[in-house]
Amino acid sequence: MLKRNGPKRVSVFEAGAGKEPLGIITQALRATRKRPGRSFVASDIEARKEIFRDFGLRKMLPNAKILKGDSLEHLAKEKTASRDVVFGSYFIASFINKAKREKGVMGAMSEVRGLFSQLHRVLKPNGRAIFIIDLQASDKLKAIAPIAGFRANLFRFKPRENVEYSDWIMKRLTKSGREELMETNLEQKVVTPEVVAEEMKTYGVTSADELCYPYVLVLRKSKE
Ligand SMILES: C[S@@+](CC[C@H](N)C(=O)[O-])C[C@H]1O[C@@H](n2cnc3c(N)ncnc32)[C@H](O)[C@@H]1O
Repeated sequence: MLKRNGPKRVSVFEAGAGKEPLGIITQALRATRKRPGRSFVASDIEARKEIFRDFGLRKMLPNAKILKGDSLEHLAKEKTASRDVVFGSYFIASFINKAKREKGVMGAMSEVRGLFSQLHRVLKPNGRAIFIIDLQASDKLKAIAPIAGFRANLFRFKPRENVEYSDWIMKRLTKSGREELMETNLEQKVVTPEVVAEEMKTYGVTSADELCYPYVLVLRKSKE
């Protein structure tokens, strides 16, 4: 019998994909066109299917699906051990803020535990949940990970110099794209200089900007 030598079929679920065409669409394109074996589902409370039309594409990409609504509820409907990767870019902070508004601080933490155990159920053995997060969120999330059965690792996201990135990546993930954020946060009094100084000490960083650099939290499910 002939062995099939195609690309490995990778199945990706994105949580909190956003509503902007540049976020959701470039990822769907990358996920499905360049790697045709992939299937891609993106979910967001504010997801809009029309973005495909806005982007000049007549119909949905063959392997891509967009779901409007709560990502946790969508994950709960996924089959057990069905996904290789769950991805979320700046989703968790937004997820926590929404849960805090609805259920208070303790309630929000219990929502994160619920989210992590759903992720663990939905991922295949050896699968990974990959989240782009802020440094300040990392301690709590790393502490919750083993309770749900994950091994957690945190990396500083470092874009490669010789690669041309999309506008979305430039805005969300590069150092230059994030540098203005701290300035804006201070100007708009989202944070006070005292809190920033305290956080710099806690996380051992030497500039305030570093608190805004993108970090990648990888939650790995064991092989069996
Ligand atoms: C900061 S935006 C990030 C968007 C996109 N991933 C990016 O990096 O450009 C966070 C997104 O998470 C979504 N979100 C927050 N809580 C959610 C939830 N429980 N279910 C689904 N989406 C959620 C928001 O609607 C928002 O679009």
